[in-house]
Amino acid sequence: MKQGDLELAVVLPTFNERANVVPVLEKLALTLADISYEVIFVDDDSPDGTADVARRIARENPRIRVIQRVGRRGLSSACIEGMMATSAPLIAVMDADLQHDDTVLPQMVAKLKQEQLDIVVATRNIGGGSMGNFAESRVRLSNLGRTLSNLVSHTPLSDPMSGFFVLDRRYLLEVVYDLSGIGFKLLLDLVASAKRPVRVGEIPYRFGVRVHGESKLDILVGFEYLQLLLDKFVGGLLPTRYLIFALVGSLGAIIHMILLGALIASGLQFLYAQAVTTAVVMTLNFFLNNVFTYRDRRLQGRRLLSGLLTFYAACALGAFINLWIASYLLGHGSPWYVAGFAGLVISSVWNYGITGIFTWRKGRTLQPRTA
Ligand code: GDD
Ligand code: MN
Repeated sequence: MKQGDLELAVVLPTFNERANVVPVLEKLALTLADISYEVIFVDDDSPDGTADVARRIARENPRIRVIQRVGRRGLSSACIEGMMATSAPLIAVMDADLQHDDTVLPQMVAKLKQEQLDIVVATRNIGGGSMGNFAESRVRLSNLGRTLSNLVSHTPLSDPMSGFFVLDRRYLLEVVYDLSGIGFKLLLDLVASAKRPVRVGEIPYRFGVRVHGESKLDILVGFEYLQLLLDKFVGGLLPTRYLIFALVGSLGAIIHMILLGALIASGLQFLYAQAVTTAVVMTLNFFLNNVFTYRDRRLQGRRLLSGLLTFYAACALGAFINLWIASYLLGHGSPWYVAGFAGLVISSVWNYGITGIFTWRKGRTLQPRTA
């Protein structure tokens, strides 16, 4: 295969897909017999050793490449990295778990070229396609997701949640700087990031059942989808991570008032009640942030404790700064609500910045995989 002939790159994101590596490559070899292609696995350091299996094959087959990312997780961001790592003019993104029917790839490529499209999506919803045997609840969830996606994207798609599509690399380069790279829904991200109408084509297919391994779709993926939508709305203005942090903080404030009221009503002295409540709410906020705000850098085991301590320390200092600024403003003639709000906002940003550096330090959760 001469490099100049390279026409299509197939990006396969993997997390614990060891048993699917060989079958998916065999299928692609049959389907793409007439196309000059390469395959790029983007593996997030799977504990099951997916990357090792892929590399073993790659040593004998120059069509196969492997990117092994460490300390990072995420389907969309993995695909973006894979897409940016090829020089092929056309790029396909497909699940590695055999649920996407690879035999429609040649049709997708042909359609994209003939009609000079930006993206061709393999969709589950239009005539001929099917959701396979998806649980009814998941079909409903998928429909809800589609409705929400129309809010951020002006390009109508019958299956914006599809993880199976082919795109022109020129289109990728047009939108890549604006991608959010959050969560599972890369297609929506790609389309919603366009600054012009996107030329999209669709090819129906039947979503298959998983034979090996298991799905990584869980409740957090739904949460990440909401974060993606949020980012498409406010992205560039405010980091969505901060918004989630602030949301957790607001929730904490509400719980604080309820708990404080209850403790005082039960006869506890104000200062004791306030102290207990503060400790409880700070702890709760730490765990909520650990699960949601910093789910990609989640602390576990021993690090949970040291994280909790740095979180307490940062928040205590934050409270001090809050009081200092508020009383300064009040002393300089600001009304109490301006002083109070300014103190709150500044200490919240402080807490966010400091805990991002010390508590959920980047790379801190990095550990060699054990399997
Ligand atoms: N690198 C990497 N990192 N890969 C991941 C990660 C991750 O964090 N999470 C999942 N993957 C890989 C899986 O190994 C698999 O190859 C593919 O992404 C899809 O993951 P699944 O967990 O099997 O998702 P699904 O089958 O429930 O949903 C898929 O199909 C839907 C319908 O097309 C996804 O593609 C959805 O986005 C899509 O809506
Ligand atoms: Mn799957």
